[in-house]
Amino acid sequence: MKKIALLNGPNLHRLGKREPEIYGSRSLEDIVGDLRRTAGHFDVEIEHYQSNHEGDLIEKIHEWSDAGITLGIINPAGLTHTSVALRDAIQASPIRFVEVHLSNIHQREEFRHHSVTAPACVAQVTGMGPQGYQAALHFLLTL
Ligand code: DQA
Repeated sequence: MKKIALLNGPNLHRLGKREPEIYGSRSLEDIVGDLRRTAGHFDVEIEHYQSNHEGDLIEKIHEWSDAGITLGIINPAGLTHTSVALRDAIQASPIRFVEVHLSNIHQREEFRHHSVTAPACVAQVTGMGPQGYQAALHFLLTL
């Protein structure tokens, strides 16, 4: 079965409890469950990993790359705006990632307007809430 990687960065395990006025009431489990259901209709398996640690996220990208995964969805969370190392890992990986943000990063504080990681991704979805993950999946299925 074809696999699509799903990588979620720091604090996203707190979705549902974390600033629900910004990020909504759905938990990460809910979001991943929905995505797995959609993927299942297309005979695709979602490999999910969440971590609060930059190095762990980077190592997971290397691991998935070596395992032959070629498509991915990433929400680097706060690391979006700071992590050259995560961008380098994405850039060096054969995995084509779509970057997803639940909130519209352009409507928020100035420091969130710039994504360090997006140029290493094939596309970016921002401000669609949990549906952004679904949109990313549908796009990846066309590649
Ligand atoms: C986020 C936006 C980031 O700026 C923030 O640091 C996050 C979540 C989003 O999904 O909207 O943790 O990536």
